[in-house]
Amino acid sequence: MDLSRRQFGALMGGAAFAPLLPSTAAAAAAATLLPAGMAWKQMWSATNDMGAWETVEDDRADSHPAGQPHIFGESDHFRFNMHMVDRDSMTDRQRQEVTGNRTSSSSYLEWKTGELWRVTYSMYIPSTLKATTTFTHIFQTKMPGTGSLPITVTSLRRVDGAQTIEHKVFQQDVTVGSTSLTPLQNKWIDIDYEIRIGSSGGVRWVLRDGATAVVDATRTGVNTFLGDRVRPKWGIYRSLGDTSGSLQDCHLLLGNLRSYKAVAASAVRYEAESAVISQGVVESNHSGYSGTGFVNGDNVAGGYTEWTVNGVAGPATLRIRYANGTTAGRTASIAVNGAAVAHTFGTTANWDTWATATLQTTLVAGANKVRVTGTGSGGNPNLDYLEVVQ
Ligand code: GCU
Ligand code: CA
Repeated sequence: MDLSRRQFGALMGGAAFAPLLPSTAAAAAAATLLPAGMAWKQMWSATNDMGAWETVEDDRADSHPAGQPHIFGESDHFRFNMHMVDRDSMTDRQRQEVTGNRTSSSSYLEWKTGELWRVTYSMYIPSTLKATTTFTHIFQTKMPGTGSLPITVTSLRRVDGAQTIEHKVFQQDVTVGSTSLTPLQNKWIDIDYEIRIGSSGGVRWVLRDGATAVVDATRTGVNTFLGDRVRPKWGIYRSLGDTSGSLQDCHLLLGNLRSYKAVAASAVRYEAESAVISQGVVESNHSGYSGTGFVNGDNVAGGYTEWTVNGVAGPATLRIRYANGTTAGRTASIAVNGAAVAHTFGTTANWDTWATATLQTTLVAGANKVRVTGTGSGGNPNLDYLEVVQ
């Protein structure tokens, strides 16, 4: 049995159920929860195949057989239909929802306490799916099983008559972010959601309309764990108690779903002596290098060393080990798949002393070209290796 927040408050013996605001809850600067040294590893994706769900709650009370299936894949997305006659097992509400991240007929992902997860998806909310005065949830995280309250919810809520879409840490009643719904209806929008699971956990909720981040909100120090594990749910779950006349037949579309787990980033090293060298030679007459040597670029502008590195699509850190035993920085152009940034390699104590330049970039899946071209008359510094951290 799922209780609405109001019912739970009533059960707790008070009409005014005072929200327990955690003293440590903090609205941090909007930022990823991913710590340095960690990387997102994609674990699951779903486009339109119903096999992607751990469970499907399609008219689970069998209230409207003629409307079944209410949830199905079509074209490049999933559709959730809600008819006015549909009823959940508790008949004051309606539910058409799917849960979890299924990876095969016999296995699904389990989001555990202490872990950091991310889901991204596209969503189309038509103007028929309106914000209501009582709950309309379109995404939840929950502990599997019946009888427990949601952990976090994305809801369409009427505030002073106006439609809003909001994300909340449910039991502490902490609003992570909220914005006007009406401008976001009848178009595809994108959600990027992170949840650190724990009693002092965190949530980031990003809502994008095209390239614009309409909301990018982070809350830390919030309780995101009840017990067992955390499972995402998508669909329409709404109360029939709305008093604004906003209930009607409607639907919700979801597409391009992905889930990622934070894992320790790993560095892969690519020696310079194995790269493509234009105007330079491999040498080993200075100490401290990795592999069998380093690249001594000719002291001219335009010479380069180019590595081909394997990537996964997404952010990456590049680490370039170099020596520059002169007294002046050496300027270079560093191009990743043709997109170049200027960089100046600083000086090192001598040619036997190595330093590491670090750059943030974005890689594509598979082969990526990283080319370092000297742009000054001294050419490149001596180059030892490139490491790719993802
Ligand atoms: C010295 C040094 C080389 C280096 C060169 C340079 O010759 O031994 O390793 O490449 O200076 O200025 O680039
Ligand atoms: Ca040189």
